[in-house]
Amino acid sequence: MEICRTVEDIRKITRQWRKEGKSICLVPTMGYLHAGHMSLVTKAHELADKVVVSIFVNPTQFGPTEDLDKYPRDFKRDSEACEAHGVDAIFAPTPDVMYAKDFSTWVTEEKLSKPMCGASRPIHFRGVCTVVLKLFNIVGCDSAVFGRKDAQQALIIQRMVRDLNVPVEIVTSPLVREDDNLAMSSRNRYLSEDEHRRALSLSRGILEAEKQYAAGEREAAKLIEIVRSSVEANGGKVDYIVLNDRMNLQPLEKADKPAILAAAVYFGTTRLIDNVFLG
Ligand code: PAJ
Repeated sequence: MEICRTVEDIRKITRQWRKEGKSICLVPTMGYLHAGHMSLVTKAHELADKVVVSIFVNPTQFGPTEDLDKYPRDFKRDSEACEAHGVDAIFAPTPDVMYAKDFSTWVTEEKLSKPMCGASRPIHFRGVCTVVLKLFNIVGCDSAVFGRKDAQQALIIQRMVRDLNVPVEIVTSPLVREDDNLAMSSRNRYLSEDEHRRALSLSRGILEAEKQYAAGEREAAKLIEIVRSSVEANGGKVDYIVLNDRMNLQPLEKADKPAILAAAVYFGTTRLIDNVFLG
């Protein structure tokens, strides 16, 4: 497995692969890898001959009061996990490799980025789109895999690729949960034992709403209330709980077409997201 720190290093390797006629799939991550990330790597192996994982805690997608400085990092553990999963190369640049001091060009998706996480994190998706397009241009991948844990992010990247004719196929992969059903996230390590226990009310609410949907419930207000009552009974502070059209993220009154029930909730100072696809 190759470990590349500079744009030139990774380009040299991917250029050679392309010369040999090999296809390349990229899995973009911010590291502190867990089984959710590794499920994307497994998917990537199905899609291409060579798999590149990028590990970069992207500063431009964090707001000024967010957790950039304390975001967990463990490169040794990450590279061991990648090696064990047959990853061909890691691209792990430093911020100065990715952003020139006078960097001034941004990719802004203007519709799907507005609701949900975009409402409380106004510059977040601008940072995500910009870094992801840069990673595509650096690696020269044919495809890239994104997790449905961040369903809004995946949808926005699909829109960006369509709108800007980026020649990369975007593939999504299911949300992976812990044994106790908490959605896997690098941020789960911020939770104290008590917060972790209370945070289970989020997945419990989401999965209960999914059950009620399967039993015929279609009222958005009722499905949302199931999640709200579950998290609020456990001291969670709701950022948003929505039932939206899965294609355009517009709110639905009834879950009568492909929908996403999604939530962002604070337990202590940790903001967790979770979602389920309905229909
Ligand atoms: P990060 O949070 O590290 O996630 C990297 C990828 O792993 C994303 O596509 C995310 O959806 C997926 N992922 C995380 N937890 C998952 C889970 N429990 N189940 C399935 N997939 C999961 O998302 C980012 O980094 C960044 O915004 C990035 C795209 C790398 C741009 O900086």
